[in-house]
Amino acid sequence: MQQMAGTSVSWGPHPSGGWSPLWAPGRVPAHVALIVDGNGRWAARRGLARNAGHAAAVPRLLDTIDGAVEAGIRHLSFYLFSTENWLREPEEVARILEIIGGFVTDNQAALHAKGMRALWCGRRDRVPDALGRTLAGFEQLTRDNRTMDLVFCVDYGARDELLRAAAELAREAADGRLNPDCIDVASLTSRLYQPGVPDVDLLIRTSGERRISNFLLWQCAYAELYFTDVLFPDFDRFALWEAVADYAGRERRFGKAGAA
Ligand code: IPE
Ligand code: IPE
Ligand code: MG
Repeated sequence: MQQMAGTSVSWGPHPSGGWSPLWAPGRVPAHVALIVDGNGRWAARRGLARNAGHAAAVPRLLDTIDGAVEAGIRHLSFYLFSTENWLREPEEVARILEIIGGFVTDNQAALHAKGMRALWCGRRDRVPDALGRTLAGFEQLTRDNRTMDLVFCVDYGARDELLRAAAELAREAADGRLNPDCIDVASLTSRLYQPGVPDVDLLIRTSGERRISNFLLWQCAYAELYFTDVLFPDFDRFALWEAVADYAGRERRFGKAGAA
């Protein structure tokens, strides 16, 4: 375990004993969004039930968080439960939500001590009350922290988020509080679940799938995409740094002419 001098915060375990590679200033993505995928296949390959894969993801979330802080990432979003995941067997749904709640309960004090600001991105009207209270409590506890935003996407779907924002704009226009001709990117962005979190710079998906699955469609407009075959229960800070290293070597253009 690495100990920060003068505090009881532990930043481990760190298998190599070393620290993250240093990238040139401006080469580290400010916002990394990660689609946590492959838990079921990880379990199946071991002859285990799918839920064992979800449980095995928990320590990997913690290691990825530590690795993100070490790399200098400022906002880290995890896609943990989608608006479509309600279509799974009720037992699996219940277990995934229970694991998310347990993750927060067991680790919120340590994450708070590390300066994480927790944010919940998603619908707040459908998850079990206890989980809703846990996530909202974590947000409240950590609201003044600034080391890194930790965004939990739970009952999140980008279409759902955009429909909600569109309905809000329509309501305000109908009430005469908003001129429809003045609606711009900022007006819609400010009505998303977490308007203070900037666009995604680097989108990572584990498990070899190459799709977005309704994740942060608006915020990923110019994201760099990175797909890895690693299943999430095998993902760690080193796998994260590989993705960041790949990103650091890319040229982002945003529609402008390239350097070459
Ligand atoms: C990701 O792992 C967890 C959630 C989507 C909640 P999966 O459960 O989707 O694992 P695979 O894709 O079936 O392997
Ligand atoms: C996306 O993974 C949702 C989350 C990671 C929470 P899925 O495993 O549900 O996505 P699909 O169904 O394979 O596209
Ligand atoms: Mg999956």
